[in-house]
Amino acid sequence: MATPSPSLPLPTTGPERILVVGGGGRENALGWALARCPGVQRVWVAPGNGGTAELAGCEQLPIADTNHPGLITACEELDVDLVVVGPEAPLAAGLADRLRAEGLTVFGPGADGAQLEASKHWAKALMQEAGVPTAGYWPATSLEQALAVLDQQNRPLVVKADGLAAGKGVTVADTVAETRAAIEEVFDGRFGAAGTALVLEERLSGPEVSVFALCDGSSLVLLPPAQDHKRIGEGDTGPNTGGMGAYAPAPLLDAAGLEQTRQLVLEPIVRALQGRGIDYRGVIYAGLMLTPSGPQVIEFNCRFGDPECETLMPLLGPELAQVLAACARGQLATAPPLSIQPGCSACVIAAAAGYPGEVRQGDLITSSLHANATLQLFHAGSRRDGDSQCHTAGGRVLAVVAQADDFDSAFERAYGGLAQVQFEGMTYRRDIGHQVRRR
Ligand code: AMP
Ligand code: GLY
Repeated sequence: MATPSPSLPLPTTGPERILVVGGGGRENALGWALARCPGVQRVWVAPGNGGTAELAGCEQLPIADTNHPGLITACEELDVDLVVVGPEAPLAAGLADRLRAEGLTVFGPGADGAQLEASKHWAKALMQEAGVPTAGYWPATSLEQALAVLDQQNRPLVVKADGLAAGKGVTVADTVAETRAAIEEVFDGRFGAAGTALVLEERLSGPEVSVFALCDGSSLVLLPPAQDHKRIGEGDTGPNTGGMGAYAPAPLLDAAGLEQTRQLVLEPIVRALQGRGIDYRGVIYAGLMLTPSGPQVIEFNCRFGDPECETLMPLLGPELAQVLAACARGQLATAPPLSIQPGCSACVIAAAAGYPGEVRQGDLITSSLHANATLQLFHAGSRRDGDSQCHTAGGRVLAVVAQADDFDSAFERAYGGLAQVQFEGMTYRRDIGHQVRRR
């Protein structure tokens, strides 16, 4: 892989004033992890949420991630020297490009690279070009075209709306009739602009694992693999959610498996991005399925997973701020190695009643949880009214995360923390990490 030119100026210190863009649990976890890096003086999270200001070293900045001019002005006024963009929507909308055009140092790909997540068809074509293992696929831009593929295949297929659909654009059909219904639903306009095209895919099977790579445009740093729980119900049943909990490092992918993922998936995709002239500086998130014939990429995302981010951040060392800044500058080789703490991290999500459907909102959140070195509380869908009380304001409300030497102890600690948090209708899965727990 290309290494940065030695003639580039080397950063002598890490960033001191950091803006994290986004308002979920992921962004609070990023803010918390960056604020504890030596040399970091201030961290703002925009727009943040009800829990942001409670995190040591973090301040909430009430600017929406769609307000690009507002964010640019804030960066100038606050003398921000690193911006970390959390969610996919502002990345796909070109926020990183706008900020870079102002001379800011930004961790997060431009709109070109964000197509990795924002267009399933674009991503599949790139994977094919790069020789990355992935399910066979057929793109379609009309109902007739999609139904013609289905008639010809005459087997159940996976139906994916092409654009960003907040995790709801995928149907894994069990029958041809279900496949047909899902195709019709996409072209009925259920997904708005995301549903003017789709991708049909072969259905694969196997356990899933998420791999995150920090990329500076050419070089990569891989984080420990994580596994999340997408379904709402215990035993991995019921409708899909954004993720009800996670754990890391996922033993499913050992050191050799991670190295294989680097060589088969991540390095080829970075070369393919470079081949298209894309200087990708941010997270490459590979959602893998470990099939009997080896790892296959189910999807790429252009950001950290949520709740995988909350799970991983406590395992990352104090070099994180310098490493993200070095990625943002295209100079990963100048950063210190990112240390990874030994041990296990466990994350459990507390959601509002009704999630992932219509949810109750505005319920008072009370907590007697005292965060410590191995226990964290990250808010997601919460809002603070005035300066005092915090209320629910979304589907996934809180993430409780804990670390220990083994998964049993880490989950015991996380569930113990969760028992100290209450709100009306609080819903959570008791079996997060069932694959790695013995009790
Ligand atoms: P997404 O909403 O893009 O995260 O995808 C939702 C889920 O659909 C993935 O986590 C997989 O469980 C499943 N999925 C996506 N593509 C396939 C595929 N080709 N075969 C089987 N399952 C799939
Ligand atoms: N936890 C899955 C995601 O962030 O897409």
